[in-house]
Amino acid sequence: MPLVDGLKLAPSILAADFSRLGAQVRDAEQAGADWIHIDVMDGHFVPPITMGPLVVEAVRRSCSLLLDVHLMIEQPEQQFGALKDAGAGLLCIHTEATRHVHRLLNSVKALGMRAGLALNPATPESALTEVLHLTDMVLVMTIDPGWGGQQLLPSTRPKLRRIRAMIDAAGLPVELEVDGGVNEATIAAMRDDGASVVVAGTGVFNGRESVASAVDRLRDALR
Ligand code: DX5
Ligand code: ZN
Repeated sequence: MPLVDGLKLAPSILAADFSRLGAQVRDAEQAGADWIHIDVMDGHFVPPITMGPLVVEAVRRSCSLLLDVHLMIEQPEQQFGALKDAGAGLLCIHTEATRHVHRLLNSVKALGMRAGLALNPATPESALTEVLHLTDMVLVMTIDPGWGGQQLLPSTRPKLRRIRAMIDAAGLPVELEVDGGVNEATIAAMRDDGASVVVAGTGVFNGRESVASAVDRLRDALR
């Protein structure tokens, strides 16, 4: 069930308490999360190193939601098989991370997963024109990737609206996800700009309150 009509919530476990990851993921599922967003970083495409297939497999055993895996890594194709085996349902590659977007989107789908394409803030929407029909999801980065807890960049909003118009004009069933700085102050703007999935890390896992009350505040902000 969507967080609210027409908008899915994908909590990012990057902000979760890793000493009790299973419980955090179960809390998110119970609070009404639609997907779980998992940020894979390699220390090359972005400076930090985070998690990989081992963590995806642990999350897979902790909930039944779609696992939305965001690959901030170079040579992402080297991980496709292991992530599939770990239980990923959607793999999102960055257009800036490969010369072979077309082939890699097809490879993800051939393995039976949904294929997403992510765009950094500086990447124009023209990166989508030749491959939109091959994607199940476009991810618009609303921050520079690598770290949670940053402020949403307002300059990314016109691009988000233009991509919403592209998807609608093409009449394709492509999800439009936003990632970075989504919280109770910004979530309504993301819905209004045309997002169909919002990622929230620190907006869901903040250590000050329960996951359920953080998700309730996001829901309230959409009313
Ligand atoms: C950062 C990651 C995000 C991150 C967002 O590169 O892609 O998914 O967890 O964190 P918040 O929601 O705190 O901005
Ligand atoms: Zn992410």
